[in-house]
Amino acid sequence: MNTSISLFTSLMLLIVSTHAQTRPGNQLRIPPTFTGGDLRAHATNVEIWPGYQTAVLAFNGTTPGPTIHVARGATFSARLANALTEPLTVHWHGVLAPANMDGHPNDPIAVGTTRDILFPVNQQAGTYWYHAHTDQRTARQAYLGLAGAFIVDDPGEDVLGLPSGDHDVILLAADKRPNASKQIPYAPTIMDTMSGFLGTEVLVNGTPEAWLSVDRGTYRFRLINGSNARIFKVGLSDGSAFHLVANDAGLLPRARQVTTLMLPPGARAELLLDFSTRAVGSVATLRSLDFPGGGLGGMGGPEQGTAMDILKLYVDRDGQPAPAPSTLAAFQPYDPAKARRTRQFLISMGGMTHLINGSIYSLGRIDFSVPWDELEIWEFQNGSDEFHPMHPHGAHFQVLSRTGSTEMPPEDTGAKDTVLLNPNETVRVLIKFDSVAGLFVQHCHNLEHEDDGMMQNFMVAAPVRLNIGLSGPDVRLSWTTNITGYSLQTSTTLINSGWSGIPGAAIEQDNEYFMLLPRTNPQTFYRLIKP
Ligand code: C2O
Ligand code: CU
Ligand code: CU
Repeated sequence: MNTSISLFTSLMLLIVSTHAQTRPGNQLRIPPTFTGGDLRAHATNVEIWPGYQTAVLAFNGTTPGPTIHVARGATFSARLANALTEPLTVHWHGVLAPANMDGHPNDPIAVGTTRDILFPVNQQAGTYWYHAHTDQRTARQAYLGLAGAFIVDDPGEDVLGLPSGDHDVILLAADKRPNASKQIPYAPTIMDTMSGFLGTEVLVNGTPEAWLSVDRGTYRFRLINGSNARIFKVGLSDGSAFHLVANDAGLLPRARQVTTLMLPPGARAELLLDFSTRAVGSVATLRSLDFPGGGLGGMGGPEQGTAMDILKLYVDRDGQPAPAPSTLAAFQPYDPAKARRTRQFLISMGGMTHLINGSIYSLGRIDFSVPWDELEIWEFQNGSDEFHPMHPHGAHFQVLSRTGSTEMPPEDTGAKDTVLLNPNETVRVLIKFDSVAGLFVQHCHNLEHEDDGMMQNFMVAAPVRLNIGLSGPDVRLSWTTNITGYSLQTSTTLINSGWSGIPGAAIEQDNEYFMLLPRTNPQTFYRLIKP
């Protein structure tokens, strides 16, 4: 009896290991975890394709770089070291970092120096990422490997019972164009610059022909499109349905059942895949399905819209299915009637260059200014027959409308930071800057288009801070920015009806505005509000 059991066991082990040996491709690699400390960008060689050393740019020796984990409400701190031979800025995509930590291309870390990054992360938990954002070098540096996942965790979401541990898997997918010696030189032709640099195969977490051994349970796949230009039309090879539970900036209000979704470069989607209806021994393939590739389509590799495998999933054992919860996260939709203005952005090609509102990006030019905490409509008009995934820094937005479809596709719902403009489409989003102020960029996340000039600078006005002090017998109220649209009020109680406007004009002097008011009551409150 004992003998037969152990014989059976070793037979099973033999079968499993035989499977693993005959599987084509490579087991999905999982980057190390990073919770703070040194993050060093440097050139190195890594074994991406078995038996080959590929020259890459890495963070702490790996590409993708380590996966950053920060708990909501905690402070992210890192010492970025530039050990490259060229300037570098690093951007935390979707993470609302202060302007001076956001990786603006005008603020590079010089070769051989470090930069301390320190800011509080207080935003919805979700799948964000980081990548090089250096002036006119973003595409090359990101392509060669300077990218990684940035996960904001929120223990408050644990009650949802979403798959966790080894059932919560980050998939940073990016297409590459290896040559015969498995090097990935970044040498775009003029045509590559026009369409974007498209690869011949998709690497997931730096794994070519990636596969993952799964059980018959439910998995949460956090898919990040880290490609320079390739748009994924995400789906399963057999057309079966799965759930979309999060877009760019965190969980959706409810899980959406889908069979495909569009995921442009820069964007993220979190999928729940349930393997309980699949037999042990079966295989499912997460792929990018084919779709019409737009104008140029792409010249160097397989065209934009060509089907490509992303990840093979081998169902190897039984597991516990976890049904998608019916409600996920609270979501406060913006009211379009409250939008204060509409800004229009014409995304176009002029001759051979990529333009926004007719201009090429200029590092030193501020293209527009945005007031603090005012809801706006940003209208992106695609005046070309190419795809352009648009991405403003400094805020998340909500998609309002898309001329190409009357129904809102599930991938357009929830909080977003990157939205795909299909050829000749107009997409309108609702956006409000109420987290971070200062100078930010917005750009097309086709990185060749971005480096070619499809980018703008904009300035988010700082929230107005009212300083209250004493000056002789008077109360002195002062502030440093124009407060048009605000109301300066006073009250002797904190009840709502007690407030009244303060008459009189402010004096402007030495880069500040001030008012002197007689002190009439021992207890007086002052406030500056937007009516
Ligand atoms: Cu992911 Cu400004 O970029
Ligand atoms: Cu970004
Ligand atoms: Cu573009």
